[in-house]
Amino acid sequence: MDYSTKMKKHQGRSSVIILLLFWFLTGITAYGSDSPSPQVELVAPGIWRIRFGNPEEFTPTHFRTAPIAKAGLDNMPFQGSPPVDPDRIVFQASDRGCSLRLPMAGRESIYGLGLSTELFDMSQSSKGGQAGRQIFLKPTDLPENDLGESHAPDPFYVSSKGYGVFVDTARFATYLTGDVTPAGSQEDEAGNSVQTSTTALYRPRAQRVKTMLVDIPAAKGVDVYIFAGPTPLEAVERYILFSGGGAVPPLWGLGVQYRGYAKYGADDTLALAQKLRDEHMPCDVWGVEPGWQSHVYSCSFVWNTNTFPDPDGFLQKMHDMHYRMNMWEHAFTHPTSPIYDQIKPWSGNYLVWNGLVPDFATPEGRKIFLEQNDAALFDKGVEAVKLDECDYQPESPAPWSFPLATAFPSGLDGEVMHSLFGVLYQQTMLEPYQKKGLRTWGLVRNSQALAAPLPYVLYSDTYDARCYVRGVVNEGFNGLLWTPEVRVASSEEDFYRRIEAVMFSADAVIDSWFIKNPPWDQLDRGKNNRDELMPDRDTVVQNVRKLLQLRMTFIPYLYTAFNEYHWTGKPPIRALVLDWPNDPKVRQIDDEFMFGDSVLAAPMFAGEPQRDVYLPAGDWYDFWTHARITGGTTIEATNDLGQIPLFVKDGTLLPLAEPVEFIKPDTCFNITVNVVGDHPADFTLYEDDGLTLDYASGQQNQILLHADGANHSFTSTGDYHGPARFKITGWAQF
Ligand code: GAL
Repeated sequence: MDYSTKMKKHQGRSSVIILLLFWFLTGITAYGSDSPSPQVELVAPGIWRIRFGNPEEFTPTHFRTAPIAKAGLDNMPFQGSPPVDPDRIVFQASDRGCSLRLPMAGRESIYGLGLSTELFDMSQSSKGGQAGRQIFLKPTDLPENDLGESHAPDPFYVSSKGYGVFVDTARFATYLTGDVTPAGSQEDEAGNSVQTSTTALYRPRAQRVKTMLVDIPAAKGVDVYIFAGPTPLEAVERYILFSGGGAVPPLWGLGVQYRGYAKYGADDTLALAQKLRDEHMPCDVWGVEPGWQSHVYSCSFVWNTNTFPDPDGFLQKMHDMHYRMNMWEHAFTHPTSPIYDQIKPWSGNYLVWNGLVPDFATPEGRKIFLEQNDAALFDKGVEAVKLDECDYQPESPAPWSFPLATAFPSGLDGEVMHSLFGVLYQQTMLEPYQKKGLRTWGLVRNSQALAAPLPYVLYSDTYDARCYVRGVVNEGFNGLLWTPEVRVASSEEDFYRRIEAVMFSADAVIDSWFIKNPPWDQLDRGKNNRDELMPDRDTVVQNVRKLLQLRMTFIPYLYTAFNEYHWTGKPPIRALVLDWPNDPKVRQIDDEFMFGDSVLAAPMFAGEPQRDVYLPAGDWYDFWTHARITGGTTIEATNDLGQIPLFVKDGTLLPLAEPVEFIKPDTCFNITVNVVGDHPADFTLYEDDGLTLDYASGQQNQILLHADGANHSFTSTGDYHGPARFKITGWAQF
């Protein structure tokens, strides 16, 4: 299909005189109901680009590296016109930038706009109810705010009405999600009554006319993409496929990641890594925090040979213990770095922590930066990186990162660079793996639009347990990934509940960067660093081990969900509203999520001995007791510590593996297929080498699991001929 074919150039219904008069009086250019229609182009089935004015050059689509996943989109044919009528979008340009006004309906919920950990339905006002709110798409390292600022502000939203809108901008756009009243529209009569309190006076009122207003500074035009549904999930899938399809982790990326104490050198790290192996704690990835470098804050990208005298030997020993290595860094380049002078002309004109800010939008900046990282990391076989500090503090009186006034050699200004810094950094650091044809699974603290194909998981320094879970629920709307990583905890209860939740996320990270011993030895930071272990430490270790094993059990199942993310755009972890769009009860549920296609997870929080769990229509099975529960109801979960409430959908096949401690290139998972309910749908396991990018060119098997009464079968088809990764060893009725 040729997507570049113009679908229809909307015929203008121009009223030139009104426009000229308007322009003369206000200095503002406007398109919309009274103006010439914008240019509309069909980009893919069910995706339209609408161009307003004269768009900026440096936008998310300008810097995209992954192509649109056309095959996936071709499998989602769509006939018909855009679900948002281009003629009803009002565009205005002025000296300060431009704005878009999009129609909204009365009871319309809005989700997405990046990875907020604080907000869920963006159409809810701060006082509750769908009066709308103001969302600031600014990158921040303090995401627990109600402004909409987050680690990954993404100008894409999906509506409960079943369509998506992406505004292609790297500006700090502001979205008013329904709380504006264009002149000429009718306000609720209640608004006319005399108010006697200031609270009542300024309270947002339910309006007859609901409008989405997107305010974009600096730009004189913008491209808007409309994504058809008809369901919200299909709109999200189209956006993710438009982004290039979701990232597929290497199999080891789905294992547990342990990040060691930042001050440890090689000897202490090796000793602790050995201890985890001796205690049979499942762990695939070992994270080395700042201590490996000769200078940090800013970074030298050179090993500290006082603490790591033999980097190659150290990495070899870690690899011999079957750990994959994930090394910490940020991009700011210290004067002692060997690339300092070389990268200076390819950096911004302000420093951060006395370091240069490389301009990853220039090929030269990328190349010089990568040469040093190749030497220090990639050529030594390091499997992943943690890209820290690439966010910002937009509201801080003392922001630590580069100012918005920064100029970069590529022509980007500080604002646009802040929006794109995380994405450009991820792209840069992905190149070496792509060249080798290998997959990676890294961590990053900032992302933005079109990030689904980037194999990096977002994390934070903030630590509110509810916000952490809300991040898991929200990540799917924008094709982002999030880990509610566990560091320390205020109590054993808090610790178990946090570990339970992180095991059901895109990256099961235990981040001990500021504690010497693992948190299961001692939860209190001070005591931990004084090596005072908890008296019941051995029991805690046993319990945590079981939780880590539970994660390993789910890996083949989760791997399927990630493959579907890649091929069909369906987020592996997602809010219930995406699966049950017609159930009004799920519209505000921000603490339950689907984990793959059959499992609903409802994490518990410390201090709450029970919680309500809403189970949508259909029958469900309690994962732990196998009790059958009728859906469409709210139940009370009182699960013991170590047992996250999990519910399996009736009529599904749930493949669960015997847990392994780590995943080698030839590890084969022994799988029992659980038959859940009487008439289960088929399930496809995706099998490949689990390491390289060959799966993307078809070197993959699909193992079709099928159960019909007592007859069970599995059939493998495909072009992967390497060592078997998945072996069906049994079937069980759930
Ligand atoms: C922070 C980061 C932490 C840890 C720390 C080490 O910026 O968010 O996870 O890596 O740096 O200095």
